Amino acid sequence: MGSINIQECFDTAMQLVKTAGDLVRDAIKKKKNIETKSSAVDLVTESDKAVEKIMIDGLSNAFPDHKFIGEESVSAGEKCVFTDDPTWIIDPIDGTMNFVHSFPHTCISVGLWINKDAEVAIVYNPVLNQMFTALKGKGAFLNGEKISASGETDLSTSLIFAEVGSSRDPEKMNTVITNFTTLLPRVHGMRAMGSCTLNMCYVAMGGGDAYFEFGIHAWDTAAAYLVVKEAGGIVVDTEGGTFDLMRRRVLCASTQELAEKVAKLLKQYQPERD
Ligand code: IPD
Repeated sequence: MGSINIQECFDTAMQLVKTAGDLVRDAIKKKKNIETKSSAVDLVTESDKAVEKIMIDGLSNAFPDHKFIGEESVSAGEKCVFTDDPTWIIDPIDGTMNFVHSFPHTCISVGLWINKDAEVAIVYNPVLNQMFTALKGKGAFLNGEKISASGETDLSTSLIFAEVGSSRDPEKMNTVITNFTTLLPRVHGMRAMGSCTLNMCYVAMGGGDAYFEFGIHAWDTAAAYLVVKEAGGIVVDTEGGTFDLMRRRVLCASTQELAEKVAKLLKQYQPERD
C-alpha cells in the first residue's frame, strides 16, 4: 500500500457525502420502504442502502486497496473486520428511526481509520445543513467554523444525552431506565434525540456536556470520535477506561473530570462485540 494522501481522502469522501446528502434530504419527505433488522425497532430503508452504495462504490473506485465497514453491508452478512489497513467506517443514515418519522435529526457518518486510529471524519445532517468535519491534529469544524466542547466539569449544571437504543432486551432496557433514574435528579437536563453520531457532535460543539450509550456500533462512533477529540472533548469506555471502537459502549464528555463523574454513576452493560 502506497503513502496515503489524507486531504485527497477527505475531499473524495466530502464530494460523495454531499451527493448522498441530496438523496437523504429528498427522501426524508417521502414514504419509505422499511425493513427490520436485529429487532422490531432496528430499521433499515432503501435510502440507508442507497447511501451506503454511493459511499462504498465511490470510495473503492478512488482507493481500491482501502477496506470498508458499513452498517448495511454488515447487516447483510458481511464480516466486521477491523485491521491496521485504511478502513472507511460508514453509517449511511445514523438516526434511521428519526429518518423514518421525518424527524430532521439524522446524518451520514463517514470515518477513515488507519492503523486503528481515526484520521478523517465527516458527519452531515443534510436536512438541517450541519456539516461536521475533522482531520487528526487539525481541529473540528461545523460548516467550516471551529467548534469546541463546553469545558463543563460540574455534573449538576450539565446537559446529558442518553439513548434508549434499538434493542428491547429486558436487561438492556433495565440498564437504560436505571441510568436515567440515577442521573436525572443530579443534572440540569437529559435528552434522547435518536442519533449517537449527532449526540457526540453536539458534545463537540458545546451543545451538551456528555453522552453515553451501551449497544452502539463502530459505525455510530467512528467519525464522531474524531470530531469530539479534535474539539477538545473526551471519548472513553462507559467505565472510564480507553475507548474500544468494537466494544459497543461509549461515553463522551466535555472534560475528563465530567466523564469520570458520569462513569462512576452508570450501571454497566456489555453487548456482544462488533
Ligand atoms: C442508532 C442511533 C440511535 C442509537 C442506536 C443506534 P442507526 O443508529 O444512533 O440513536 O440509540 O444505538 O444504533 O441504527 O440509526 O444507524
